[in-house]
Amino acid sequence: MIEVHFVEADGRRHRVLARSNITLMELAVRQGMPGILAECGGSCACATCHVVIDPDWTAAIGGPNDMEDMMLDLVDRQPGSRLSCQVKLRDAMTGMVVHLPNPNG
Ligand code: FES
Repeated sequence: MIEVHFVEADGRRHRVLARSNITLMELAVRQGMPGILAECGGSCACATCHVVIDPDWTAAIGGPNDMEDMMLDLVDRQPGSRLSCQVKLRDAMTGMVVHLPNPNG
């Protein structure tokens, strides 16, 4: 199992476990993480699944492709910003820390 730590904007942390080969968005939605709407269902077309990967994990996770990069211009982009539907969970990601957007904007 892969362990993922979601951190809300107010600092609340959620430790969740997942199988590999689902996306970070699917995990966040299944676990009811606030601020992850995923309106397009994972098609890289809405940017409502935006998360920020913790700086300690950005190198391991990697960056966005060109399409995702364009979509990230629609959000409050920060270093480490990713669309969670484009991040497929792998065993090497266990322990990763993911910051959730502020649901109040
Ligand atoms: S769910 Fe729409 S871009 Fe990720």
